[in-house]
Amino acid sequence: MSTDDANTEKWSRTDGYLERTVLPDAAELTPIRDAQAEGGLPDIAVSATQGKLLYLLTTIAGASRVLEIGTLGGYSTAWLARGVGPEGSVTTLEFSPEHAAVARASLDEAGLGDRVRIEVGPALDTLPFVTGPFGLVFIDADKANNRQYLDWALRLSEPGTVIVLDNVVRRLDEEGPDADGTRAALERLGTDPRLDATALQTVGIKGWDGLAIAVVR
Ligand SMILES: C[S@@+](CC[C@H](N)C(=O)[O-])C[C@H]1O[C@@H](n2cnc3c(N)ncnc32)[C@H](O)[C@@H]1O
Repeated sequence: MSTDDANTEKWSRTDGYLERTVLPDAAELTPIRDAQAEGGLPDIAVSATQGKLLYLLTTIAGASRVLEIGTLGGYSTAWLARGVGPEGSVTTLEFSPEHAAVARASLDEAGLGDRVRIEVGPALDTLPFVTGPFGLVFIDADKANNRQYLDWALRLSEPGTVIVLDNVVRRLDEEGPDADGTRAALERLGTDPRLDATALQTVGIKGWDGLAIAVVR
């Protein structure tokens, strides 16, 4: 076994232990992951520990309105919907009608559907019709547009809004539009006076990656 494979196996095993030990509330959302797999959606949702982090950031921010860019099958959406509570709302933007349909069915089945609005289409086309402000924005779609998504997140924010960008590490040293988009967003996080940010490397069941977290001043 290569060192990389051994690391991935160890990180996955540890994530499993952490999920079983610290996150008893993750099990109820496992059917959403199962429906994604059964629907043939790619296995690119956040992990349970990352989903719980999104939930915690939503509650710590006191966010009752959340915007997500990149729904997939609704797994991270479900954690965010838990975070806003029964009176809150999540608006989530998804390019693929097939992904959106799987997400809609799963979120309804989980009893969270009435607090989630799914807008289908390229996010840069649907964002102009979204009304802010949001207490938390989670950016997790096509990475090439990360810089534009960050612009939109700021436009739809107010002081105290939390902005989270996923997958900011894995392809950082690559060439191409996805890495360019992520690097442009990270540079903006470090230079925009309205933003106070950090970026963390992470390991786990998803391998080696990272996320950036910012708060709007
Ligand atoms: C990494 S997945 C999202 C995972 C999800 N946030 C989770 O953790 O459960 C990225 C999603 O963004 C969607 N996507 C890609 N390009 C998009 C675009 N231009 N506008 C909106 N959604 C897009 C993909 O179809 C895919 O479902």
